[in-house]
Amino acid sequence: MKKTAQLCVLALLTFLMTGLSASAQDGERLYIYKFCTTCHGQNGISIAPNYPNLARQNQRYLVNQVKDIIAKKRANNFTLLMTEHPVVISINDEEIALIAAHLTNIK
Ligand code: HEC
Repeated sequence: MKKTAQLCVLALLTFLMTGLSASAQDGERLYIYKFCTTCHGQNGISIAPNYPNLARQNQRYLVNQVKDIIAKKRANNFTLLMTEHPVVISINDEEIALIAAHLTNIK
């Protein structure tokens, strides 16, 4: 009986999570709320030559780069702009995935 209840909760959570992560709008909102636009531009076309464009970049590549940058595995003088940004370094894996999905699908 207890196991059934646990399975129900798990099923409900899975449903809620896939429901949430399926929304492209969430990715777009996060991209703005997490300050990515201030450097990488509203449409993923960056505001300065040293800031890479992100629009239509490969999704997996985007996820890996953000994780490497936050983990300080990738570093040059400009990476500091992200690693020293309190909001940027606070994003979690789910938010990175949503933002990457949004960026990949920019028209
Ligand atoms: C203050 C400016 C700034 C902000 C804010 C910022 N970035 Fe960056 N980002 C950079 C710079 C500069 C680089 C290039 C770093 C390097 O050359 O290693 C970069 C690199 C990247 C890359 C690697 C791109 C590539 O082509 O390899 C990704 C992906 C990325 N940023 C995503 C994000 C996301 C997502 C956010 C928001 C959560 C964000 N950035 C916020 C400045 C910023």
